[in-house]
Amino acid sequence: TERTFIAVKPDGVQRGLFPEILSRFFNKGYKLVAIKLTMANEPLLREHYADLQSKPFFPSLLSYMLSGPVLATVWEGKDVVKQGRILLGATNPLASAPGTIRGDFAVDMGRNIIHGSDSVETAEKEIALWFKKEELVDYKPTLYSWIYE
Ligand code: GTP
Ligand code: MG
Repeated sequence: TERTFIAVKPDGVQRGLFPEILSRFFNKGYKLVAIKLTMANEPLLREHYADLQSKPFFPSLLSYMLSGPVLATVWEGKDVVKQGRILLGATNPLASAPGTIRGDFAVDMGRNIIHGSDSVETAEKEIALWFKKEELVDYKPTLYSWIYE
């Protein structure tokens, strides 16, 4: 089954928004397979955001992501990568619809409270980057037959 990496960024953690964010993924029907509150570090972030290294906002993105703890999570379920991005909303909160996490809780692109993998391949890389294999748990949610046909 498909998995995605979702991280509540330091602003989302400091603002206490992570219970609400976790609820949205649980309520949708997704299964949590890993979770930890952790401080990122520069080498990790340089790899995580490797495609953005040359952008003018990269230094501020680094300091933003290092400004406090990140809640790193992995979710599993049908189309969870694509659906996760839909739950997040557009990168720029100005363009993210009400009802999405960024649309409901953010106003600034540089404080957009949450990260989500943008493809299945990226998700696999990010999960391996942020978690050890043994931190991912395997179990059968009792509600599965009420969520999946
Ligand atoms: P993530 O889920 O965090 O990866 O966001 P994304 O996939 O929607 O956007 P992208 O990967 O292109 O950018 C990563 C992060 O860099 C964004 O979530 C923003 O926090 C930040 N970012 C992207 N573009 C800009 C920008 O033009 N200005 C600023 N200040 N930050 C930006
Ligand atoms: Mg991205």
